[in-house]
Amino acid sequence: MYIERKPTVNLAALKREFVHNIGEFENIKSPEYALEELFDFVEVQHNYASALEEIGTKLKILDDEFRVAYEHNPIHHMEKRVKEFPSLIKKLKRKGFPLNARSAKENIQDIAGIRVVCNYLEDIYTIENLLLNQEDVKLLKRKDYIKFPKENGYKSLHLVVSIPVYLAESVKVIPVEIQIRTIGMDMWASLEHKLRYKNTNISTEQYQEKLRQCSMEITSVEQKMQDMNNEIYHSDF
Ligand code: GTP
Ligand code: MG
Repeated sequence: MYIERKPTVNLAALKREFVHNIGEFENIKSPEYALEELFDFVEVQHNYASALEEIGTKLKILDDEFRVAYEHNPIHHMEKRVKEFPSLIKKLKRKGFPLNARSAKENIQDIAGIRVVCNYLEDIYTIENLLLNQEDVKLLKRKDYIKFPKENGYKSLHLVVSIPVYLAESVKVIPVEIQIRTIGMDMWASLEHKLRYKNTNISTEQYQEKLRQCSMEITSVEQKMQDMNNEIYHSDF
């Protein structure tokens, strides 16, 4: 299993976006406030990156334990990212929330995000249960797009959990968005995302029906693979 990391703080982008939006920030009455606000945002990015480390480590430990106990890794790979400053500002604006670090912490639950790509369907709920059983992990929000897929065929289990992060002088309880999906669901979501954001003449609509069909076929294939894997596992004994 490998873990893909994106850089946590991009200072050039932070500076550019901050200067560009400075007039719209709440509470900025003087340069001192501006500087403080900027530092607050850097602090948010740092603390949320630490929360991702915590959750990532928990998931890796669970995966390793499974390997030892059942000769099976539920997790194929993970991708982590802290929402970059420009995207965070864009989201605050889009949702009509005040532009400041405090508002970002209060209103945006996916500043820290981790995608957990599992080998099989059953692994998704195994990982969810094991993680939520841990005392310091609190569930804040859950959306099961596997039992209830989106109209376009999108499937994934979305959780927002909070986790305490022990810093030098305080303990911060920080939310992390976790998307858990299979390799097939991940492949589907990547293509759908690409189609949606690609600026070509081919619109997503042309592909809508095909995408829905693919989503169903992927699930059917993954279910068969799961069944075979279970049979092989149980035939060992
Ligand atoms: P926001 O406040 O907009 O983030 O809403 P939400 O967090 O309630 O949204 P949701 O949990 O439905 O989706 C969060 C994330 O899941 C998105 O940022 C995407 O990464 C992913 N996602 C959701 N729906 C789709 C979809 O239809 N296609 C793809 N490719 N990804 C999706
Ligand atoms: Mg979200």
